[in-house]
Amino acid sequence: MFWKFKKQKDNSVSFSIDEIMKGQIPNHIAIIMDGNGRWAKKRALPRTAGHHEGMKVVKRVTKLANKLGVHTLTVYAFSTENWKRPREEVNYLLRLPEEFMGTFLPELIEENVQVRIMGNKDAIPAHTLSAVEKAVSETKQNTGLILNFALNYGGRAEIIRAVNQIVIDQNAGKLSAEINDEIFSGYLMSSSLEDPDLLIRTSGEIRLSNFMLWQLAYTEFWFTDVLWPDFREEHLLEAIHAFQKRGRRYGGI
Ligand code: FPP
Repeated sequence: MFWKFKKQKDNSVSFSIDEIMKGQIPNHIAIIMDGNGRWAKKRALPRTAGHHEGMKVVKRVTKLANKLGVHTLTVYAFSTENWKRPREEVNYLLRLPEEFMGTFLPELIEENVQVRIMGNKDAIPAHTLSAVEKAVSETKQNTGLILNFALNYGGRAEIIRAVNQIVIDQNAGKLSAEINDEIFSGYLMSSSLEDPDLLIRTSGEIRLSNFMLWQLAYTEFWFTDVLWPDFREEHLLEAIHAFQKRGRRYGGI
């Protein structure tokens, strides 16, 4: 497979999958999928049309990430702040996981993808949760890409939940007073995952929006003006190519 794309008018760049695969593939890629509303607005469509198109892009990106040998792909599908949106939009967003699993689960199973969920499950509607948990259970034996849905997820809420649980465990004598990075990470919702190596955010916004605040400490960030529904395989390759050129020092020299 081969993609060509133009970076600037005078500077055309092309990558092949093979070329990218010769370099280091990020173990964990996290994505803030932004710009669905603006994509729809530009076409005089309802915002929900942008979310629907965005869902289709998740399928494309999942397939390519799996093919590239990415270990984990975390997608920010619904944040703890998204409840502030109009009720119809919230309802639509919370129906999408059902449609996604309904149309894509057989392929996920066939492609050896493992589905996971990360977020406050208590407030997720039963219909949404059961669709995702069915997918989690039916892909449990798979050994390929982990597709991790951040659903009703917020980084601060996750940290506070971890602190509260640590205090409970300390009071119960299950945990000593002194905690370190490793112990703390074990109390987060991402406890079974490595920290992301690469964070992608689309639509030109340069902020974290309460996403994986602890886990992104040493992550490489890649931002693009492309709106999420317009995000394509070549953009993922471009992000990985940029990642491969970075020198990660983790505070060393
Ligand atoms: C931000 O765009 C996007 C979201 C709040 C939702 C992201 C959800 C998807 C891409 C659908 C994926 C779902 C599944 C189940 C795979 P925005 O609405 O804030 O866009 P705007 O900033 O242009 O208004």
